Amino acid sequence: MPPTAIDVAVTSALEIGYRHIDTAFTYGNEEAIGKVLKKWFDKGGKREDIFITTKLPPYGMQPSMIKSYLKLSLEKLNLQYVNMYLIHKPFAFVKDKYKYEAAKYENGSVMLDLEANHLLIWKEMEKLVKAGLTRSIGLSNFNESQLLNIYHNSEIKPSNLQIELQAYNQQRPMRRLCAEYSITVTAFSTLGSPGSSGDKRTKLSQSLPRLLDNPKVSIIAERHNRTAAQVLLRHAVQNGIVVLPKSTHPERIKRNIEIFDFSLTDAEIEELNNLDKGERGRIFNFLGDKGVEKHPQYPFASQLKYENVSVNVH
Ligand code: A2P
Repeated sequence: MPPTAIDVAVTSALEIGYRHIDTAFTYGNEEAIGKVLKKWFDKGGKREDIFITTKLPPYGMQPSMIKSYLKLSLEKLNLQYVNMYLIHKPFAFVKDKYKYEAAKYENGSVMLDLEANHLLIWKEMEKLVKAGLTRSIGLSNFNESQLLNIYHNSEIKPSNLQIELQAYNQQRPMRRLCAEYSITVTAFSTLGSPGSSGDKRTKLSQSLPRLLDNPKVSIIAERHNRTAAQVLLRHAVQNGIVVLPKSTHPERIKRNIEIFDFSLTDAEIEELNNLDKGERGRIFNFLGDKGVEKHPQYPFASQLKYENVSVNVH
């Protein structure tokens, strides 16, 4: 997204009342967000009213590099600290020598960093909290056993897990586990990521009707005189999930937050819960990074059987 579009989107979001900004080193937009934040604080906005999350890139997972990646993010964001720092993905890549991206072989496969050790990485994440560079730490795209490994071997527990979570892939087992361990769950792709290109999506998810056009969602939306997006967001929030509705259009940004003045009935929640297809409904499995499924920490090995991809299940 060009910096001007980020300026418009983030400024409108703050003006409308959004207070949580979710970004990542790999999104390449931290600098543009930092400029908006500076203007916001110069106009009197208070740092303590804003919650900022950013993430450690998969090519930055060597323990000795972790602090410098957060410091780079802070510099770009114009901040002294973030509210939450997440490990973006459980697998790790070797960094390209010149650019901030994964190194690749000539055939386009990513170079896997097979040394990545979650417990050593987490130790460094804990140090970032102690150094005051982040208020909390968490995980993104980790599976259950990866999350439990960190949980049971850490001093500072993961406070949040950010995962794909949308009506076709409602992540019930993971939500149960997180509830048991008091880990909050943040969803991405709540609207079904309508803007993502076909080749990035799993084959099965491409065969399902677009979530925003799902007839059950449309009927409930009409009943409440709301948009399908508002119903999907309300469904997640009413189920106790943090949502990250992303839009570049101020009108949609405004409507997407207007979900706190109505509620869905128990029957409607049940109807939307029943759209769940479990792992079959997953949209993103990261196979766009060629060869990633061969990493020992690739998290969705069991899902690949639906995609006709063979892989050793770890
Ligand atoms: P746009 O930026 O053109 O508004 P997800 O969070 O599931 O990944 O979805 C984000 C995508 O959904 C963005 O591409 C965004 O496109 C689109 N989007 C956001 N809000 C709405 C809405 N209210 N109606 C339709 N599409 C939306």
